[in-house]
Amino acid sequence: MPKFYFFVTKLELISLLKREVKSRFPFLTFSFAHQNILFYKKEEDKSKIEIAPLLASFFGPMYGKFPVNTPKIFEIPTGHIAFNVSLKDFVYSGSYDKKLFSLLNQNIEESPFSMPDLAPSRAYLKAWEYLQIISELGDPLEKDEEVIEIGCAPGGASFLFCERGAKVFGVDPGEVSKNLEQFSRSFYHHPIAMQKLKAKDWGIFLNNPRLLFCDVNLRPSETILYLKKILGDFKKGGGQYLVWTVKLTDWRNCEEFFLKEWPKIERELALFHPILTLKRVVPSHHKEFLLLVKFR
Ligand SMILES: C[S@@+](CC[C@H](N)C(=O)[O-])C[C@H]1O[C@@H](n2cnc3c(N)ncnc32)[C@H](O)[C@@H]1O
Repeated sequence: MPKFYFFVTKLELISLLKREVKSRFPFLTFSFAHQNILFYKKEEDKSKIEIAPLLASFFGPMYGKFPVNTPKIFEIPTGHIAFNVSLKDFVYSGSYDKKLFSLLNQNIEESPFSMPDLAPSRAYLKAWEYLQIISELGDPLEKDEEVIEIGCAPGGASFLFCERGAKVFGVDPGEVSKNLEQFSRSFYHHPIAMQKLKAKDWGIFLNNPRLLFCDVNLRPSETILYLKKILGDFKKGGGQYLVWTVKLTDWRNCEEFFLKEWPKIERELALFHPILTLKRVVPSHHKEFLLLVKFR
């Protein structure tokens, strides 16, 4: 098994990622850093532990040097897929699904997408990044599909979903931008807190939502309590997605989040039988990471 691992993240998250690795994977020893890439050595055999940091954009075991002209993405005998992350002639192997590899070409510091003037907030960009990931997984959001957005104000993400032809039910006690008025047939704002939401509320507007997008600025350990109830109502028919922007509100105590809060959240989500779970940081946002869950 490989002895080295690499983790790529945004420059501003490097020190937090180091703290995450130290607390969650104490058997890894810091080896060196190259710009926004951290390298670690595995001292003990902990092969049963999945080394998948929350604050990395992508990551994987490292197999060593390959010739300079090796193609960018190729399969190696271990069954892993290797790719060249532009560190000259090094080639590393990542643990993600093949379809996600085109994302590696994306600049992780800056969103490759641009925002129309009317978009009510920068969340437009991150919603785009997330829809892109869902597309890469082979499940693009189609016209007339239904979305629930929790924490929708002022409306950047909902604006994008509506532009894509989706029917959006937005939940937020805050005000949404007037720029969403042009989508009055496909966007409905329910001005309450998520803890008060009942399935019959969105049932008036939606039949079978395919995406539950959660972008609230509440503590994750609190958000999951209310999300569980919504997920119970939402999870019908399969093939649905939860996309949750997990905001680490207090970075001073992030070790507590990594060691206590996060494992509990994972256990709660496991009760809903996810078939795919992906965690990563995305370009347009800073102190948060993306959790994407696909349900059976
Ligand atoms: C980061 S902003 C959301 C940005 C939004 N997704 C957009 O696209 O413009 C977080 C939102 O969470 C909302 N929020 C906070 N607590 C909430 C709760 N308990 N239920 C629903 N929304 C909540 C806030 O009112 C705020 O508008």
